[in-house]
Amino acid sequence: MPQNASAAALKALTEWWEDMGVEVDQSEIARLKPVQTGANTGPAPSDAAATATDTRQAPTSGRNSRKSANKGLHDWIQEAESLAAGADSIESLKAAIESFEGCPLKQLCEKTVVYDGTIGAPVMVLGEGPGGQEDRLGLPFVGKAGQLLDKMLAAIQLDRKTNTFISNVNYWRPPGNRNPEADELAVCRPFVNRMIDLAQPKIIVATGGVAAKSLLNSKTGIMRLRGSERPFETPAGTKVPLVPMFHPAYLLRRPQDKSRAWRDLLLVQARLSEMGVTL
Ligand code: URA
Repeated sequence: MPQNASAAALKALTEWWEDMGVEVDQSEIARLKPVQTGANTGPAPSDAAATATDTRQAPTSGRNSRKSANKGLHDWIQEAESLAAGADSIESLKAAIESFEGCPLKQLCEKTVVYDGTIGAPVMVLGEGPGGQEDRLGLPFVGKAGQLLDKMLAAIQLDRKTNTFISNVNYWRPPGNRNPEADELAVCRPFVNRMIDLAQPKIIVATGGVAAKSLLNSKTGIMRLRGSERPFETPAGTKVPLVPMFHPAYLLRRPQDKSRAWRDLLLVQARLSEMGVTL
């Protein structure tokens, strides 16, 4: 197979795996890609693209570029805080997040994924961060897990078009769909807090352990966090009840846990009804 054809096949195969919910380690895939040898052929256009992708996906390249700006984590968090504080609407916050260069993941992915759904909705769903499909389309929860999330929400009369706002605790896809690391979450956090302050949701649903633990600043796993409502407050004083729930990607792998997720959805529905929110 010509090199550019095999690179394309590898890309298609890994995308297909990811769509099926299989976690793909991009650094391993990069090692499988054909290496250009000899001076007889210049790289074909698609090989040149693959090379650019490889550079983006090298786990340390983003970190180096962040270092080269001579800023440390603390400086980037401060910059995120200042950008977030300067945003007075969800739209301007989105622009601020897109302009931010302090998350090393940004160099490794295609798009900044900020939100989808209805601004001002009573329900805010927060996941852990974009996957492959989300990175391609620039919207959260649009892959297989997102489709399941939509079905789960629909079961309690929630949907993106009318009453639900969807975002993540990290806006850039980690390579190979690994979990975002603590410093990656830390630079995003001022934006997440500001989003909650601006959106003023009645309830937050945190999908999966990464989102729930990060938002609640807890080491407790999702198995023990889920099942009840937790108090949540932003530094600016916005208080919102938070319901931790299994991540839909986990439910795709363990459908036997859907009954527990259903109980959590009923809890969300009951709390909304108690608060007088009509859906
Ligand atoms: N998983 C998440 O946590 N968020 C997304 O946007 C997509 C998949």
